[in-house]
Amino acid sequence: MPEASDWLAIARSKDPDDVREQILTGYKAGKPFTPYEPTIPLPVPLGDVLDFGCGLGRNFPYLRRVAERVSGFDLPPMIERCRAVPQAEGISLFDDWDAAKTTRFDLIIASLVLQHIDPAMTSVRLEDFARMAPYVYLLSRVESDFQTNVFEDIRAAGRFEPGECVGVDHDPATHQLRVLGRAPFDDVRKLSGSGHFEVLLRSNVFQRA
Ligand SMILES: C[S@@+](CC[C@H](N)C(=O)[O-])C[C@H]1O[C@@H](n2cnc3c(N)ncnc32)[C@H](O)[C@@H]1O
Repeated sequence: MPEASDWLAIARSKDPDDVREQILTGYKAGKPFTPYEPTIPLPVPLGDVLDFGCGLGRNFPYLRRVAERVSGFDLPPMIERCRAVPQAEGISLFDDWDAAKTTRFDLIIASLVLQHIDPAMTSVRLEDFARMAPYVYLLSRVESDFQTNVFEDIRAAGRFEPGECVGVDHDPATHQLRVLGRAPFDDVRKLSGSGHFEVLLRSNVFQRA
């Protein structure tokens, strides 16, 4: 698994397929580079959505279907890469967090991202998320690249009311998320290992301007 700092190097890889393989393990073996649709209902209506750690915009086609406006944020070299990929209309891209965090959204999604970020930075980003949007949809591996539990890092941030977690994996037949089971957030934050869960977090500090 790449460490957070590796993502700068990954984004600068010569071959775009190497970037796709790092984002979606198995891409080179035939997994399509298509969105994972959340299995848990998202809040509606969705005006503005931020895809945090958007990579090459794999999830944009889905987000464009469910939200009026979609923004993506990632590290500068990944956003440069993302800009080179033909994208649907109406997508705004940010590579400067100070600019992104002054914007308000109806939902932030972080799909397979927080597991790769240093827990100290995750806690700063979570603090920002809670002020930027009323809800955060998360898809994450339980254990981060830094051997912490991402869900415990979220609890420690103290800014969210978490919903029930849904355990998922990749369904090889549909190339969508396959539901493996449901578990209370408090159980998931005590797990270790490489299982993946979705959860919807409700901010307890968000205030609409
Ligand atoms: C496994 S990829 C997932 C990309 C995309 N969300 C998807 O599902 O296709 C992880 C992404 O996290 C991004 N990332 C890593 N560190 C980051 C950071 N500190 N801030 C924002 N994004 C970061 C990487 O550049 C990469 O695009």
